[in-house]
Amino acid sequence: MTGPVAKILVLHGPNLNLLGTREPGVYGHITLAGINEALFSLAAELSVEIRTVQSNSEGALVDAIQGAIADCDAILINPAAYTHTSVAIRDAIAATALPTVEVHLSNVHAREPFRSHSYIAPVAVGQICGFGAESYLLGLRALVSRFGK
Ligand code: DQA
Repeated sequence: MTGPVAKILVLHGPNLNLLGTREPGVYGHITLAGINEALFSLAAELSVEIRTVQSNSEGALVDAIQGAIADCDAILINPAAYTHTSVAIRDAIAATALPTVEVHLSNVHAREPFRSHSYIAPVAVGQICGFGAESYLLGLRALVSRFGK
């Protein structure tokens, strides 16, 4: 490989630390550690670097997004419940101007109506949802195929 390796910030929003036991009928049995393991393995295959962060706090997620300006080329984010509420996360993503893909384990459009609205989608390259943990892997592949070095 020549040139610098693309670095991608992977962000997991609130309550995703509980995956594995949280509403398994909706989110399956995979843990957050399991998702991160699959992402690190795909990142190695695609020759990119990832940094993973999970937080239940909106401000910490905003800080992590701002931090990406310094050393990341793209963002993969599951904003979880903040998808439907957070102007702050949307503005932070817009401020970075980094290509961002929004992912969800569940199909947010097939659930309660309030989940169909995303503050993040208009500032993202695209949204992938409904494929369980595979949504994250598809999102990483999408970012690397379009923006990876
Ligand atoms: C979620 C969907 C959101 O509506 C919900 O608040 C979550 C998880 C998903 O991955 O399916 O916490 O982002």
